[in-house]
Amino acid sequence: LPANEVAAVKDTWNHIKHDEVAILEAVFKAYPDIQARFPKFAGKSLDSIKGTSAFAIHASRIVSFFSEYIAFLGVENTQPAIKTILNELGQSHRNRGVTKAQFEEFHQALMSYLKSHNMWNADIAHAWDDAFDKMYFVIFSAL
Ligand code: HEM
Repeated sequence: LPANEVAAVKDTWNHIKHDEVAILEAVFKAYPDIQARFPKFAGKSLDSIKGTSAFAIHASRIVSFFSEYIAFLGVENTQPAIKTILNELGQSHRNRGVTKAQFEEFHQALMSYLKSHNMWNADIAHAWDDAFDKMYFVIFSAL
C-alpha cells in the first residue's frame, strides 16, 4: 500500500479501535446471518447479548486482529508474517463454514462504521478498499 493510504487507514482506524462492542453490534445489526454463525449468539436478540462478556471478548478478538494487520501495513519485510496470520484466519473460518459473501458483508459493515465515525472522503474509502483487498486476497485463498 502506498504511504498515503497506509496513513489514511491508520488514522481512521485509531479513531474507532476502542469501540469494540459497538463495532460488533453494528456488524450483527446490519447482517444477522453473521450473528447466526456464532453458536453462542445464534437465535438471540442483539440487545440481550451485546452487554455480555462473551460478546465483549469476541469483539475484542476481531478488533485486535485488525489492529495487528494494520500495524503490519507499510512496514518493510513483514509479508511472510502477515500472510501467516491471514492464512490461519481463513482456515479457522473455513472450518466454521463462513463464506466469502459473509466476509464481504463484514467488509461493508466495517466500512459503514468507519465512515460514520470519521471525516470521510473518496481517498480514504479507496485506501480502505485496498487494505481489504490485500487482506481478503490471502484469507480467500484459504477459505
Ligand atoms: C472467531 C476474526 C469475519 C465468524 C474469530 C476469531 C478471530 C476472528 C480473531 C478468534 C480466533 C479464531 O478462531 O480464528 C475475524 C475477522 C473477520 C472475521 C478479522 C473479518 C475480516 C467473520 C465472519 C464470520 C465469523 C464474516 C461469520 C459469518 C466467526 C466465528 C468464530 C470466529 C463463528 C468463533 C467464535 C467462538 O470462538 O465462539 N474471528 N472474523 N468471522 N469468527 Fe471471525
